Amino acid sequence: MVQRGAWGSNVGFILAAVGGAVGLGNLWGFAYSASQGGGAAFVVLYFVFVLVVGVPVLTAELVIGRHTKRSPIAALGQVGGARLKWVGLMFVLVGFGILSFYSVIMGWTGRLLVDFIRGSVPEDTTAHFAAISEGTGAIVAHLVGMLLTILVISRGVQRGIERVSVVLMPTLFLLIAALAVWASTLSGGGPGYAFYLHPDLSRIFHTETITGAAGQAFFSLSLGMGAMITYASYLPGHGNLPAKAAIIALSDTLVAFVGGLVTFPVIFHFGLQQQVSDSAIGALFIAVPRGLLSLGGAGQVVGIVFFSALYIAALTSAISLLEVVSSAAIDSLGWTRARAGWLGGGAIALAGIPGALSSDWVGFLFQLVGQAFLVFGGLLLAVIVGYLWKDAARAELLSGFRSPALATAWIWLLRTVVPLMLAVTLYFAVLALGPAAKALFS
Ligand code: TRP
Repeated sequence: MVQRGAWGSNVGFILAAVGGAVGLGNLWGFAYSASQGGGAAFVVLYFVFVLVVGVPVLTAELVIGRHTKRSPIAALGQVGGARLKWVGLMFVLVGFGILSFYSVIMGWTGRLLVDFIRGSVPEDTTAHFAAISEGTGAIVAHLVGMLLTILVISRGVQRGIERVSVVLMPTLFLLIAALAVWASTLSGGGPGYAFYLHPDLSRIFHTETITGAAGQAFFSLSLGMGAMITYASYLPGHGNLPAKAAIIALSDTLVAFVGGLVTFPVIFHFGLQQQVSDSAIGALFIAVPRGLLSLGGAGQVVGIVFFSALYIAALTSAISLLEVVSSAAIDSLGWTRARAGWLGGGAIALAGIPGALSSDWVGFLFQLVGQAFLVFGGLLLAVIVGYLWKDAARAELLSGFRSPALATAWIWLLRTVVPLMLAVTLYFAVLALGPAAKALFS
């Protein structure tokens, strides 16, 4: 067997895991879902969900990964016996599916970044987005993104993933903070902040707002398909896993929140509310450039910063997705890392081409693998750890963490609240598949 990778440092692991979590979901999905889900009502639910469901499931993934030191297929086999290997296999396929559309969106981001650098974003951003999101340009941009991802993965855990994350993540934090400061100088942003920060409590009890927040949190935290199992499998024993889970979840949520402090003032300053809700998937790609264009040179600078941040966020997430697929091939098929990265990444690059030809396909895949299957995966993980594997899980958690009371609370959540919430969310995620599928044929 090939020697397994390992993180060079604790900070390296944290930055890589935060890099996997912080992605398009934070800067694009969160603001969009919040704008459609009643603004602050959605935000409050989101926080609750991260805390009550996200952190326990994230901890469960870290515990499985560190305990087994295996990629998801072998890890699930070790935790639940051979009869549970299919869960790990499903995780790998879900990772494959997510990256196949994620890389397409990353391509759109890269394309807009290049357009802003060249100063060539046209007035009609709706037509521009239509032109760049489907067709040859979209395919090329998608392939470039996959190529970058493969190059990082084939260099290894420490020399590839960790090194890139340690440079890119602090850069990303700075860029986003700078954008939030800039956004606060926009006139007319006040109502944007109000919408974003002032909860309309009547919206909190809408089932759709609740399950929307749940699905969004799951995607944003990269849960439910073994990405965190995989990253934790490169950890040495005995660290404090709940603390790590808390740092990762907090950072991810903070970036999403600060991202909203950028997008909402922008949307309201430029009066883009209608554009945003008209163009689900293209919201930020159409509305934000339109607003920025009206600012001339300053808008160009902001556009470059904004789309650089988005691209960095997307790249480190794409890396975490490909690592799930590659590590499975390394562990289960005995492939070298380079082979796993190139063949796995190459296959995903091909599978992504339909998405680069049809953004409805991107939307459908997001609903299918980015929502329904993730939530299903999280549900299975909660049941597996909470019911089948609880004693070993508890022992693993308590090596390096000294609160038996919290360990008990964790297991209790995994047995009760978490599966219940995820089952309801799954139900709505499955219902949402209908309209997403219909869009494919209209
Ligand atoms: N969390 C990332 C985002 O918010 C996307 C992502 C990366 C992901 N790895 C994942 C989502 C694993 C689900 C599972 O954009």
